[in-house]
Amino acid sequence: MSHSKDFVTQIGTSTQAAADWLATDHPVAIPTETVYGLAGNALSKAAVLAIFKAKNRPHFNPLIVHAASMDAAAPYVQHIPRAAYQLAEAFWPGPLTLLLEKHPDIPDLVTAGHHKVAIRVPAHLLTLELLRMLPFPLAAPSANRFGYVSPTTAEHVYDGLNGFIPYILDGGPCTIGVESTIVDFEDQDVVVRRKGGISVENVEAVLQRHVQLRTHAHEHPVAPGQLKSHYATHTPLYTGAVDVLLERFAGLRVAVIAFGPVSPMGADVVYTVNLSSSGNMDEAAANLFACMRQADRAGADVIIAPTLPEAGLGAAINDRLRRARHLG
Ligand code: TXA
Ligand code: MG
Repeated sequence: MSHSKDFVTQIGTSTQAAADWLATDHPVAIPTETVYGLAGNALSKAAVLAIFKAKNRPHFNPLIVHAASMDAAAPYVQHIPRAAYQLAEAFWPGPLTLLLEKHPDIPDLVTAGHHKVAIRVPAHLLTLELLRMLPFPLAAPSANRFGYVSPTTAEHVYDGLNGFIPYILDGGPCTIGVESTIVDFEDQDVVVRRKGGISVENVEAVLQRHVQLRTHAHEHPVAPGQLKSHYATHTPLYTGAVDVLLERFAGLRVAVIAFGPVSPMGADVVYTVNLSSSGNMDEAAANLFACMRQADRAGADVIIAPTLPEAGLGAAINDRLRRARHLG
């Protein structure tokens, strides 16, 4: 696939400019509360192909379709289970994606041939305004080059996609900072396929029942968020007990991603960035990808990051760090 710089990328706050580019099948980066998305008309194959081209994805993966409301999404799905309504009611607009039987109007390219489509109503005023202006929903993967850390500011998008897209709609830094939680419905089961901005505990509280966790690559379809090093930094990243890792990498130049009041020190530590010095999990999630990018630019030999408590958003953060991890 050729990857040429076809555009002078502009950053701005005009939903009209974004709408004009989208109407002509050009990909536009849009802000959401989770991460920035690279959007295109979900009903247009040309627009969806342009997204894949700009991201330089080596193969086609299913994309999340963004709509302004459940009503706006309804024409594109066939059947909505009761549990899906309950979750939409509780969490939309918000960091929740529902897998629902797709209507034939959604091209197979969007779902990678899967019979379900991923639907989400994002909680960002600018993007909701844009969605209400458009006569079509927006397919959007995260707005990063394939395989790299997801973007949580317009500048992050620019760093990766400058020249490959015409417009970045700047909505400020993302407030949640990790991607949406993806929920599927199978027979009588509710299945979480990706941990994200809504905790599994919160999903269970709304449904008043236990849900299944099936977030591994053996589940069909193999999704990009499930590839091992999908969120990879260029500098090898290791997670675990930070003091043990510091010992293991003695003599190397280390960048540390810290969490909580104690920042690890040592002769080898050339850079430290803190997810949240007060140990606040929401703040840690919002800072995660920016911290990973900063650590990646520190000129270190390795990045080391802690494993956070595996509860609430901590589970989603650990998942992202684990995927970014250098194996070996
Ligand atoms: O928070 C988010 O979800 C962000 C913002 C932009 O909305 N989007 C995002 O997109 O994270 P992306 O492409 O990086 O991840 C989309 C994931 C895929 O990895 C896949 O797991 C799942 O959504 N997915 C999408 N469509 C699917 C389908 N039809 N069946 C199964 N999984 C699907
Ligand atoms: Mg992604």
